[in-house]
Amino acid sequence: MGSARPEDIERVLLTEEEIQQRLREMAQQIDADYADRDLLLVGVLKGAVMVMADLSRALEHETVAMDWMAVSSYGSGTRSSGVVRILKDLDTDLSGRNVLIVEDIIDSGLTLSWLITNLRSRGPASLEVATMFRKPEAAVAQVDVKYVGFDLPNEFLVGYGLDWAEKYRTLPYVATLSAHLYA
Ligand code: PRP
Repeated sequence: MGSARPEDIERVLLTEEEIQQRLREMAQQIDADYADRDLLLVGVLKGAVMVMADLSRALEHETVAMDWMAVSSYGSGTRSSGVVRILKDLDTDLSGRNVLIVEDIIDSGLTLSWLITNLRSRGPASLEVATMFRKPEAAVAQVDVKYVGFDLPNEFLVGYGLDWAEKYRTLPYVATLSAHLYA
C-alpha cells in the first residue's frame, strides 16, 4: 500500500473508502448499460492503471476485455498541448466493438478530446468515457463523459493514479500536495 511523507500532504480530499464505494456504483451502472453487449476497456497509461484494475474487477459483466494506449503531448513543455503522440497503440481492432475509455483524470480535456477523435475513426460500435476524477475548472476542451467518479478542485493532486513527478501515484487516497513541493 502506498504511503506518503506527512509533510508532503496538505489534506486528503477522498479517502480510500470513498473512492472504492464510488467505483462500485460506477461498475453497477456500467454493468447495466452493457448487459447485452461485449465491452472493451481502453486504459490510458500510466495514471489509469489503478482505476482500470479496480473498475474491471468490480464489474460483473462476463466478457470484459482490456487494452492499453500510451500517449504523450507533443512539443512544448506544457502539460497538455492538444497535439498528441501515440507511444503505444492498441493491439485490438476496434471495428464493431463497444469501447469504454478509462481515465484517471480529465484536466484540460485535450488528451481525451484527441483520443475520442482518434478512436472514433477506427469504427467502434460505440465509444464512451469513464473517468475517476475530473477538474471542471481546468476544462479547455469540452468532452462528453458518461461516467464520472468525482469532480475535484483545480489544485495539485496526488494518489490513486495521480502522480507528482512519478511520486505518490500508488496512494490509495487522493490528497492535495503541500505547497513547499511545488513553490
Ligand atoms: C494525465 C491523465 C490524462 C491526462 C489528462 O496523464 O492520465 O491522460 O493527463 O490531462 P488533460 O485533460 O489536460 O489532457 P499524464 O500526461 O499526466 O500521464 P500519466 O498518466 O502517465 O501520469
